[in-house]
Amino acid sequence: MMLSSLLLSPVLLAFSAASAALAAPSALKTFTVPHVDGQDDTPALLAALPDYASNSTILFKQGVHYNIWTPIKFPVLNNVEIRIEGNLSYPEDMATVQAIVASSTFPGHWFTFTGGDKVSLIGSTNPKWGWVDAHGQQWWNKHELTNRPHGWNFAKISNGVIRNMKLWKPVAWSFSASGSTNLHAHDNWIYALSDDMDNAFPFNTDGFSAGGGTDFLLENNHIQNGDDCMTVGNGAKNIVFRNSRCEGGHGLSIGSLGKGGQVADVQNVLIENVEMKNALYAARFKSWTGGKGLARNITWRNIKFDNVRFPIYVTQNYWDQNLGPKPEVADVTNTQIQDMFFENFVGNINDSPTFFEGTCVSDPCWYYVPGATGREVIIFDLYPETVKDIVARRIVPVTQSWKPATVMCNSTVISTDVGFKCQNGLFVPTLAGLFGH
Ligand SMILES: *[C@@H]1O[C@H](CO)[C@@H](O)[C@H](O)[C@H]1NC(C)=O
Ligand SMILES: *[C@@H]1O[C@H](CO)[C@@H](O)[C@H](O)[C@H]1NC(C)=O
Ligand SMILES: *[C@@H]1O[C@H](CO)[C@@H](O)[C@H](O)[C@H]1NC(C)=O
Ligand SMILES: *[C@@H]1O[C@H](CO)[C@@H](O)[C@H](O)[C@H]1NC(C)=O
Repeated sequence: MMLSSLLLSPVLLAFSAASAALAAPSALKTFTVPHVDGQDDTPALLAALPDYASNSTILFKQGVHYNIWTPIKFPVLNNVEIRIEGNLSYPEDMATVQAIVASSTFPGHWFTFTGGDKVSLIGSTNPKWGWVDAHGQQWWNKHELTNRPHGWNFAKISNGVIRNMKLWKPVAWSFSASGSTNLHAHDNWIYALSDDMDNAFPFNTDGFSAGGGTDFLLENNHIQNGDDCMTVGNGAKNIVFRNSRCEGGHGLSIGSLGKGGQVADVQNVLIENVEMKNALYAARFKSWTGGKGLARNITWRNIKFDNVRFPIYVTQNYWDQNLGPKPEVADVTNTQIQDMFFENFVGNINDSPTFFEGTCVSDPCWYYVPGATGREVIIFDLYPETVKDIVARRIVPVTQSWKPATVMCNSTVISTDVGFKCQNGLFVPTLAGLFGH
């Protein structure tokens, strides 16, 4: 007895020390957000947050339908996880939401983070729970664009995680992460498709905006929406977006850059293994005449496109076609492009002569390209002397009409081999385009 306990005790001590180390995350104190039927659940959460701003779990419990009738603005958080395991609902009444968005105290998003370190936003793997429902359909039905709330701003967070989150019909703009570093966003699902995509379009329901973030890994996300699946903005560095599915929107987009003479700086963006379905664009880059700066080392590869109008679209002559004719810009500069690659694109182009996308509310449409046949697999609308090394390789398109695919490219503007014959006409790959590395 005596002997055995003496022998065992060091073992037991070692064991309990190890289990304490392993159990460290559960040492987080937990705040379970309370709920009262028929009332706004935000105030009780806001009141408790100062005590749970570090080393805490904030839990929206499964089985509860929370009313998030006013926006949530988190304080700076450190080592905090927010678990969304219940269902969360925005106000159902549009006018209520609009009044809040219009007020001077609205933080800009319905869910706003203000900074911190090691912050995780974690949804539920239960398909029935963990949805955040913004009731977007009614906004889309009414074409209501005034005072729409943005969704989540996961801002100024270092070492953040967004995973298993599920958004149901966000009114507009889903996730942004402005000023964050080292973000891993994975296995999220954004459902922003309208019941009637032709007449009640889900405008501006962008999926992930990588803003000007650094070191982002976005993967295994499923985004069904009516605007960019993901966007990379000025200042972004080391952004990887991969192994994801996008449906219904405006593509995998960089930009717009250089508006109003901005000096852009975007580097090291890799977008790979993505399925683009029923979309206006697959890969897209846009910059404004008059802009400056550099966009360098940007690759889209292994992109499968299905029913896409413009699979590869690069414009350095971007402007908002909704807002009238192209502005005259005295400053004839543009954002430099260096090392931009499009590799392994396979799919079909929607070249229907009656092609229409629900965002087309002007005549001509904002996405209208003068002179386009509708069968363009690649449009390089480049600016003279600003592009160094842009190549499209192993691009395998068919059109839905079975007519040959075409391209748009102006050879007086770019003299290097772009991987296909640079012309306004048939898509004819060059050797570099067929066999380049
Ligand atoms: C949170 O936990 C860390 C590590 O255990 C500790 O250093 C820090 O003081 C804690 N913060 C607060 C506010 O308790
Ligand atoms: C949670 O919300 C989603 C989206 O509104 C809905 O489809 C689902 O049925 C809800 N879950 C429950 C248990 O009501
Ligand atoms: C290009 O960007 C990718 C993705 O961020 C990165 O892995 C790679 O190292 C970069 N290459 C260069 C030459 O900077
Ligand atoms: C090609 O670019 C040059 C130089 O910018 C321009 O003058 C010309 O009109 C362009 N050609 C076509 C067909 O767009």
